[in-house]
Amino acid sequence: MLETLFSMRGKVCVVTGGSTGLGSYMAQGFLEAGAERVYITARSADKLQAKAEELSAIASGECLPVVGDLSTLEGVEALAARLRDQESFIDVLVNNAGLGTGGPFAQMSADDWDRTMDINLRSPLFLTQALLDLLKGRATVDAPSSVIFISSVAASEIYAHVMAYSTSKKAVEHLTPQLALAFADEHIRVNAIAPGRFYSEMTRGAWQDPEAEAYKAELQRIPAHRYGDIHDIAGVAIMLCSRAGAYFTGEVLNVDGGHRLRR
Ligand SMILES: NC(=O)c1ccc[n+]([C@@H]2O[C@H](COP(=O)([O-])OP(=O)(O)OC[C@H]3O[C@@H](n4cnc5c(N)ncnc54)[C@H](OP(=O)(O)O)[C@@H]3O)[C@@H](O)[C@H]2O)c1
Repeated sequence: MLETLFSMRGKVCVVTGGSTGLGSYMAQGFLEAGAERVYITARSADKLQAKAEELSAIASGECLPVVGDLSTLEGVEALAARLRDQESFIDVLVNNAGLGTGGPFAQMSADDWDRTMDINLRSPLFLTQALLDLLKGRATVDAPSSVIFISSVAASEIYAHVMAYSTSKKAVEHLTPQLALAFADEHIRVNAIAPGRFYSEMTRGAWQDPEAEAYKAELQRIPAHRYGDIHDIAGVAIMLCSRAGAYFTGEVLNVDGGHRLRR
């Protein structure tokens, strides 16, 4: 049973923001678990191409780059159109691309707010809508499609300086069960992962100097005493998209080493 439980064999997946960080970790996990094709998307064509080549070399499945900017609805539709040109169905959509913003409230502009909401909340929602036909494509009771939203531990904690980001992620968590119910009869499951601190470009400033006092103090504070890595996020994403997690829908999984328990 174990061989099939966590298998992604034959699956066609889309991971936005797949050129670096968490998106690239999940794309790699899907390929190592047997996925047939994993489309990764991002704005920077060079980085995306390099990552697609690197990931295509590690397993029998193919990793394919699709360049696109998800900060506007035009960008969302253009990306969806490129995917529709390539595939008549997809099994998995991971809405991972996101923007980390923060700073004193007094200095936050309406543009900062809009940018954060657009990339973290509006675009994932409307990309899911634009890809609905592909997600329905071959979904059945026994082999449902899977949509994953990426939230953040910031949705569960209160910070004075990350209002737009944490509000966008809280909204993603609220959207998740609503979409799960809306798509249930189409055999599309919708879940969210709320990561704690992971090694990625977004957090590079916090961990790049392993001797920094602030980094060491942070590791002390996190109950797991470490940042999350590829295994932590890929493991949960594979579980949610394979038979192992096929009875999850409308759920938010906190993958944070206990971060939200102690700040
Ligand atoms: N790292 C953490 O500790 C952590 C914790 C909680 C939640 N998260 C969430 O995890 C997700 C991934 O973050 P990460 O830490 O892996 O960040 P990352 O390493 O900076 O990766 C972000 C990815 O998104 C792409 N991207 C950014 N803006 C885009 C846009 N406008 N259109 C299309 N693609 C865009 C980036 O490529 P281009 O720049 O080339 O477009 C890149 O592939 C985000 O939703 C973030 O909020 C991360």
